[in-house]
Parts: sequence; structure tokens; C-alpha cells
Amino acid sequence: MIEDTGLRDLHKIVVINPKGGCGKSTLATNVASTFARRGAFPTLVDCDPNGFSMRWLEKRTDKRPPIFGIEAYDISDGPAEPISARVPEESKTIIFDLPAAITSGQLIEFTYLADSLLVPVMPSAVDVYSATRFIAELLLNRQLDRRDKKLAIVANRVRRNTKSYRMLQRFLTSLKIPVIAEFRDSQNFVAAMDEGIGVCELPPYRIRNDIGQINALMKWLERRPALDGEQPEAEPLSEDRLSDEQRMELIAAAAYRRAEERGFQGGDPSLDWAEAEREVDATYKRHTT
Ligand SMILES: Nc1ncnc2c1ncn2[C@@H]1O[C@H](COP(=O)(O)OP(=O)(O)OP(=O)(O)O)[C@@H](O)[C@H]1O
Ligand SMILES: [Mg+2]
Repeated sequence: MIEDTGLRDLHKIVVINPKGGCGKSTLATNVASTFARRGAFPTLVDCDPNGFSMRWLEKRTDKRPPIFGIEAYDISDGPAEPISARVPEESKTIIFDLPAAITSGQLIEFTYLADSLLVPVMPSAVDVYSATRFIAELLLNRQLDRRDKKLAIVANRVRRNTKSYRMLQRFLTSLKIPVIAEFRDSQNFVAAMDEGIGVCELPPYRIRNDIGQINALMKWLERRPALDGEQPEAEPLSEDRLSDEQRMELIAAAAYRRAEERGFQGGDPSLDWAEAEREVDATYKRHTT
């Protein structure tokens, strides 16, 4: 188990999404290298037995601003020594690169632990459906309180004008979950990964279309949730009324189920969404009349 005690003074950034290959390690390594360039000596914790982040770190030369690496592959049984004991004192930021396969216990644990919870999402129909289901799951199981503003989406390998990406935006807007950056589908991310660096460390002329998004991501991360001021009071819910958020959560889950039932083949995500809306509204109406 990851012990929160001892990690208390650190900004804990957790990169999470149960969908494989959506860009968790790419995002985690880019966050780490950008903090490093800003002189923050971040700690990168690789929780994935594939060791993608650690291999990236091994490629990083001494000429680059340092990043401290911790292997924590066996997050189910816990590392031999608590992570907090291994984080260098100078390090004020810790980034967890999670594997796709995590247990529901680990999901709860990391959701609680995080100050910032980053979910990279690719705009393919399958990825969007699983992201909406994942977020709906987080919210429905009350593992996450939306009001603490620690959850944000990074859209990865973006092609903006796809139906599925518009569906994701609609879902997130209704839940007030911000998309804080949009990464292009670009060889820059692949090249940086190969060299043990972040995109921000590539020559400036190569990254003029990427750096704005990296900066936007860092701007959001550098706000500390605790400093964001008073949290708004929870809106009281009357027993027979579904809040907008609850309605959206149910619609997301219903839309996902539709796509899942046909094996994500064919179909139309917008149509799924519209039918899910009708289904949820009809069911809800039946309950209240
Ligand atoms: N914005 C991008 N542009 C181009 N290629 C990308 C981008 N983001 C990720 N990739 C590539 O996609 C692949 C998967 O990315 P990555 O390993 O970061 O995903 P992951 O979520 O960590 O995967 P896993 O679930 O297996 O841990 C990698 O080959 C990576 O280089
Ligand atoms: Mg990974």
C-alpha cells in the first residue's frame, strides 16, 4: 500500500486511466521533465511492471535537469520500503505513473492520495466510452468529490472534430471537469520518449505547436487545490430529484453500455448519447410520477 504519511508536504500527481495505451507514461514523463526544467527536482514513481517510465529515466543523461525515480511495481503488496522513505528531501512534487490494470482498492487509494488526478484520454470512440465510464464510476462510487477540483483531463493525440471527442467534451462540460491541455498526435512525443526527455526539452523550433499546451497543463498543476479557497457547499438534493450531475453520470454509463453491447463496432456515439438521454429521462420520470 502507498502510505500517505510522509508524503504530506509533497504535491502528489497521479496519472490514471484503466484504458491501456492512452498516454499515461507519456504524460507522466512530460510532467516530470517540465517540473525538472523548472528546477523542482521531481520524483517519478513507476507503478507499472512494464517499467516504461523507468526505462525512459535510464535514457536521461546527466546533462538534463535531474528527476528522481522510484520503482513501485508491486503496488498491491506494497514496496519493501515505504515510498515516503525514499523520496529525496528536495523533491516537492511526486508523479505516479499507474498501469492500466489496477484493482478497485488501488483506484480508491490513489484517488484519495492525489492532489491532482490527471486522466489522459484519446479521442477514439472506444477510449472516449471507457473514459466516460471510468469518470462516471469515480463519481458514482463517491471516490471522488468533484468539488475538490483535483480531477482534470488531458486530451491526447487529439483530432478535434470527431464525434466521440465532441461527446467527451459535452460530458465533461456538464460535469465541470476541465480539459486542461490537448496534446497533438505528434512524433515529438515519441522522439522525446526515446531520448529520456520531455517535449519541452526538444529544440524550440520543433515544439512551437506543443509548448502552449504543456504550459497550460503546468499552469493548472501549479495551482494547489488547498489554496483554491473555500469549497462551495454541496447543493442539497431533494429525495425525488436527480441533480444535473447524477443525470449526466447515468447517461454516460448508459451510452457506454450501448456501445459495449455491440462490441464497439459501427454505430454512432452521438446517437448512443441521445438514446441514453431519452432512456435516463424516461426512467427518471417514471420514478417521480
Ligand atoms: N501525443 C502523442 N503523439 C504520438 N504518439 C503518442 C502520443 N502519446 C502517446 N503516444 C504513443 O502511444 C503509445 C502509448 O503511450 P503510453 O505508453 O504513454 O500509454 P500508457 O497509457 O502509458 O500505456 P499503458 O496503459 O500500457 O501503460 C506510445 O508508443 C507513445 O509513444
Ligand atoms: Mg504506461
